[in-house]
This record gives sequence, structure tokens and C-alpha cells, in this order.
Amino acid sequence: MTSRELREKFLSFFEKNGHKIVPSSSLLPSDPTVLFTTAGMQQFKPYYLGEKSLFGKNAASCQKCLRISDIDEVGDERHLTFFEMLGNFSFGGYQKEEAIKLAKEFLDSVGIKIDYVTVFSGDKEVLRDEESAKIWQKLGFSEEKGTLRFCGREDNFWGPTGEEGPCGPTTEIYSQDIEVWNIVFNQYYCHKDKSLTELPLFGVDTGMGLERLAKVSQNVPTVFETDLFGLIMKEIKGDDLKTKRIIADHAKSAVFLASEGILPSNLERGYILRRLIRRGIRYGKLLNLSHDFLIPLAKKVIEIYKDIYPEVLSKEDEIIGIIRGEEEKFEKTLEQGLKEFKDYVLRKEPKGGHAGVARDQMILDGKEAFYLYQTFGFPKEIMQELCKEENIKFDERGFEEELKKHQELSRTASAGMFKGGLVDSGEQAVKYHTANHLLLAALRQVLGSHVLQRGSNITEERLRFDFSHPDKMTEEEIKKVEDIVNQKIKEGLPVVCEEMAFNKAKEVGAMGVFESKYGEKVKVYTVGDFSKEICGGPHVNNTSELGHFKIVKEESSSSGIRRIRAILE
Ligand code: SER
Repeated sequence: MTSRELREKFLSFFEKNGHKIVPSSSLLPSDPTVLFTTAGMQQFKPYYLGEKSLFGKNAASCQKCLRISDIDEVGDERHLTFFEMLGNFSFGGYQKEEAIKLAKEFLDSVGIKIDYVTVFSGDKEVLRDEESAKIWQKLGFSEEKGTLRFCGREDNFWGPTGEEGPCGPTTEIYSQDIEVWNIVFNQYYCHKDKSLTELPLFGVDTGMGLERLAKVSQNVPTVFETDLFGLIMKEIKGDDLKTKRIIADHAKSAVFLASEGILPSNLERGYILRRLIRRGIRYGKLLNLSHDFLIPLAKKVIEIYKDIYPEVLSKEDEIIGIIRGEEEKFEKTLEQGLKEFKDYVLRKEPKGGHAGVARDQMILDGKEAFYLYQTFGFPKEIMQELCKEENIKFDERGFEEELKKHQELSRTASAGMFKGGLVDSGEQAVKYHTANHLLLAALRQVLGSHVLQRGSNITEERLRFDFSHPDKMTEEEIKKVEDIVNQKIKEGLPVVCEEMAFNKAKEVGAMGVFESKYGEKVKVYTVGDFSKEICGGPHVNNTSELGHFKIVKEESSSSGIRRIRAILE
């Protein structure tokens, strides 16, 4: 079946079965703790908590979603950043039996064979889902046949989206070796501290990726051969399949983000759009595509989706303009990077042509390579080629190590990273954010300049700060750090924000952690002459606003990384 047929059949099936059909909400959710809509349930989140639903007890939708967390998986047979999620939802209406039966009946009706299903196996907190298992057994599935499998928290428990919210055990349906449908029973509320309490009503939240469903229905090897990608893939010339898939995926996400009025920038949503476009271009370079190859791809995306999501057509000119503009900027950045690389080679070259030091003993070291990668967006493959041209070595291992360090960094900061570690922008959280800067500067004074920020997470109640340091801090060191921070608070230092070019910021010695997200212009926050950091803000105006600073815990976070929890009293 075509994707259009599948979409229509899904919605009409659930309409026939007593569901109100609700249009896709925007990719930009109203929930401030998440950047993008990542699931169909997001627009219904309050209804699971007991708020009266505008759509009755049962609803169904086909929702535009964006999951940036899957970006590294894109290129395999089933992962995407932008995708559509088909879902049926119930807020205190039907429960497990009906949810499972409806799913089975729908798949039967479109000729999809279920290979096996999984059910939650239970743990200390939440009971094994015997009820779902019994329902599947009645439908002919069994452990003996291998068609009914039990899995734990990792696999069969969903949620919450963002910092807190509804969540619960799932039962999942597999066909042709991929998970096609996730049926969540929203029985719990997950609080910020990860504790669970029961919800006032029983919730059902299901999600089935349309692209995966189309892959299975159209019986093709990957989602990229379905009719949702065919036209785009055809437009990309070149041999490397994985590279082509990544380009196709990013072109699609970029079109949808641009259609929602997002502009490329260095912050939050704009940064994601920038990253998708630039990553797409980088991969295009590997295939030697012409410099504006994204434009015809964007047009194909629009052609595929214009009837379903009319905003991509009505905004066509803006979308094309945004992509073109970003392409031009990126070209300039790449040119600068090339210059930087050449300068580096010159700097390293031995002066006066000493005998015995040959070009081929020179090396582009891991740190410099990572700098080029991060600041100018040079992919590894391009650096390898440049080094070959210049007849110097490329420190691949060093580069990979730097990359790994950075990835760990991003994971630690998780959702908060795009707000400078700030999850909650309440007044108290802003104070913690400034305290964060004071803490880093104090740690460097006390422990040494090897201390770098490795992650940060802030709520209204506390700050959590990860940093590089090999040993457990002693009582005295902790005390010293506290005293310095409190001294700086007492001094009532002004916090000043300046915008400047990233290179300039480095020159003036600003600390910056998440360098890859900074492009041309960055904000630099200075606290007296004590601290200088690249940061998105916001901050208090004067350190005197902070109150008393106290470290409540110092512990290991991972190898070579310590973690501090601190409060303002
Ligand atoms: N919320 C679940 C998911 O995203 C089911 O819709 O997989």
C-alpha cells in the first residue's frame, strides 16, 4: 500500500472505532521542556493527567515528529530524524484489551503479519504485565512459539517526554524484524526525581511510525525505498547508499523545520536546523554533489508532502530561501576552515628546512582536527583528504578520542544542553546558572586549569555540575571552593553579557564547553574579572542576588569526571 493509503486507512479505521481524528500539531510543542514534538501523545499530555479532553475520550492522529536523538542512527534501515507517527489514544476510555485488539485488527486489515510481540516483564517498581500477555495469548501468541516475549524497563517502558509526565509499560509489535507499533499504557506519572505515582485515569498512547509501516507494507529493504523517500533518493547522485540516506533524511527535516518558521541560528531550535542543513551539505561534499544540491531535494520533499502538510507548499519560497542562505554561509565557514588548516600546516612546518624533518613526519593532531571539525564543520573524510594532499599524517585515533569525549559531554547535558544546561528558566534557576559559572572558575582556581565543564543540569532546586578531575575532592578543597564562590557573591560583582565572534571569544580566553553549537556570533558572560564563559544565558545582573552557596555532594560521575550538587540558600 502507498503511504497515503496507509495514513488514510489508519485514520478511518480508528474513526470507525469511535475515535475523534485530530490533525497533526506543530513540530514546535508548547511544553517548554522539549524542543520538538517527538511523539503523537505530546499534544494530549494534559489529558492523561485528568484535564478534560477537547476531543472526547478517544482520539487518533498522524503526527509530524522530529527526534534529533536518533541522528547518529540515521542511514540504517529504519531510523530517521523527521517522521510521521500514526497513533490512537485513550484518556480514561478503553484499556489494554481493546487497545491490543484494535492494533491487531488494523494490521490484519492492511495485510501486515506480526512476527512477534513484546510485553513488560516487571521490576521492583512496576508489576509484570500479565494482563497484556493473556490478551496476546488469546489471540494466538505464545512464549513457546517465540511470538510472545517479555522484556524489561529498557525496552518495554515508555516516557516521559521532557523532564516529567505520563509514562508506563508498553507492549510492542514487530514485523520483518523491526518494531512497528508501540502501545503504551500510561498508568504512572514520572516526577522530576524519577519517582512514579499512579495517574488518576488509565491512559492508552500508541505510536506507529508511518515510514516503518510503509517499509513493511511495501516490502522493501529500508524506509528509504518507500514512496516517502523514493523521489528524494532518486535525485541524489552518487554511490554510497548510507551517505545518500543521511542527506535525504536531513533535507526532509530541514524543509519541515523551515516550514514552521524556524531560522538557522546558534541556539536551540535554530541550531538544530543549522546542524541538519550543514551536516547534509558535508555529506553532499563526500559525494561531490554540486554546491546547491539541497534545493532540488527540498523541492522533492515539498512535492511528496504538499497535499498532506500544505504548509510546506505555501511556505515554499521561504523554505528554499532559508536553505540557500544557510548553504552560502556554510560555504564561507568551510573556506575559513581551509585557511585555518593551511595556517596550521605552515605553523607546524619546520623553519629553515632542517634536514631530517620531513613533511610526512608532520601530523594533524586529534585536538586540532577536532577543532576544525567542531568550529568549521570539517568531516573526518575531508580532513583525511586534505592531509593526503599536503602529505602529512592524520591522527585518526586522537580525533576519534576527542569526538568520543565530546559525545559523552552532549549526552550528560542531554536535553538541557541547548539552553546552556538550563532546563527551567524560573528565577531561581537563573541564579543557579550564574552560580554554575562561579563554581567553574573557583574549581579551576583550587584544583587547576585541567578542570573543564563536562555537563550541567539545573532545576529550581539545585545545580548539578560535571567536570574533569581525576580525584575525589578533599574536604578542604570543597570548603575552599565554597568560600571563593561565597566571597564572589559577597563582592557583588556585575554580570555582563557581550556578543562577539566565536574566534574573538576564544582569543579573550572565554571558557566554552559546547563549542560545536557555536558558529559565528556567541554571547560571552563576564563576572567581574573572575569568570568569562561563552554561554547562551540568561544570568542575574549581579552576584549579590545569589544568596549563600553550598556544595551538598561531591561524587564520581564517570571515569575522570566528578559531579557536584550544590544549592543556594
Ligand atoms: N509515545 C510512544 C512513542 O513515542 C507511543 O506513541 O513511542
